[in-house]
Amino acid sequence: MADRKVALVTGASSGIGEATARQLAAAGFRVFGGSRTAAAGRGTQVGHVTLDVRDDTSVRACVSHVLRAAGRIDVLVNNAGYLCAGAVEEIPVSEAKAQFETNYFGVARMTAAVLPGMRERRAGHIITISSLTGLAAVPFWGHYSASKFAVEGLMEALRHEVRPFGIVVALVEPGAIKTPFYTPPRQAGIDAYAGPRGRVFAATAELERKAPGPQVVARTVVSIASDSHPALRNKVSKQTRRTTLLKGSLPRQRSRSACGAASSSTPARHPPQLVDRLRRTRPTSPPNPPPRRRRPARNVAFFERPTPQSAAS
Ligand SMILES: NC(=O)c1ccc[n+]([C@@H]2O[C@H](COP(=O)([O-])OP(=O)(O)OC[C@H]3O[C@@H](n4cnc5c(N)ncnc54)[C@H](OP(=O)(O)O)[C@@H]3O)[C@@H](O)[C@H]2O)c1
Repeated sequence: MADRKVALVTGASSGIGEATARQLAAAGFRVFGGSRTAAAGRGTQVGHVTLDVRDDTSVRACVSHVLRAAGRIDVLVNNAGYLCAGAVEEIPVSEAKAQFETNYFGVARMTAAVLPGMRERRAGHIITISSLTGLAAVPFWGHYSASKFAVEGLMEALRHEVRPFGIVVALVEPGAIKTPFYTPPRQAGIDAYAGPRGRVFAATAELERKAPGPQVVARTVVSIASDSHPALRNKVSKQTRRTTLLKGSLPRQRSRSACGAASSSTPARHPPQLVDRLRRTRPTSPPNPPPRRRRPARNVAFFERPTPQSAAS
């Protein structure tokens, strides 16, 4: 029992975090689940720790609690997060900052809090639940998508920084998963966006209706936590792979909108396509433009304009 690996999962009171905490416990990990509220009812092997990832003091208290109780943290699963939906123009900056405070700075805070122990022991896994929207942004989910793009960049950098200490960093990029994450969209908004906003929200509601449960993400996390050399980016479904391809095809469709025209006075030349595009296995055109012909290398410093002399040499 004493050598069971110790995992701390943030946002473990619901959805993906709750499923992940349970599956890690079933796989033999000693698991602590951090959230502002405890998971409802059901008996579980997961110990609840009060945690608000927006608050430095709460994060420090949570990590200290686990270290006192279990002696170490082998696996951190950064999962706590929520969706702030609406047109970029509709969302007050205060709400955008709040989105980043949880989804991005929450991840940064938790990661910094567990790293000293992991560096000392020269071992550890930091696994972060990103999203398909951290690879290709969804209209009307702008600040949420931006927070996940930010998390992708943070973890990509961190992976290089902590590899010398034997610490493993991995991202999990789920597509739509059926959880309480999909809150009803805001009612009040700018009328000009009503049509496309409604179509995108109808499309995402449809994706959610058909989405798998959080267990598929939990399985991926458990397999990463048990792997000493996981990939940086880990997909959980075909949908995520399709979206990566979709992103590669987007620059070719500059004049099209992913959600149709903005108002009835500018009718859509292409009908609403978001769902269709997410469903399609392959884009009709190659995902990337053909490689540009390489120019012969010149002996000129990076960012320096070639002088006539250097160009001639
Ligand atoms: N569902 C999807 O389709 C989907 C797809 C891709 C990625 N994701 C990502 O998966 C993660 C989990 O989402 P979910 O779908 O499982 O949603 P969920 O069921 O709403 O769960 C969110 C969890 O985060 C916790 N949380 C929120 N704010 C927190 C804070 N300030 N401090 C601590 N915990 C906090 C919540 O607990 P308390 O409210 O009790 O604190 C809850 O346990 C999120 O990062 C989300 O972006 C979800």
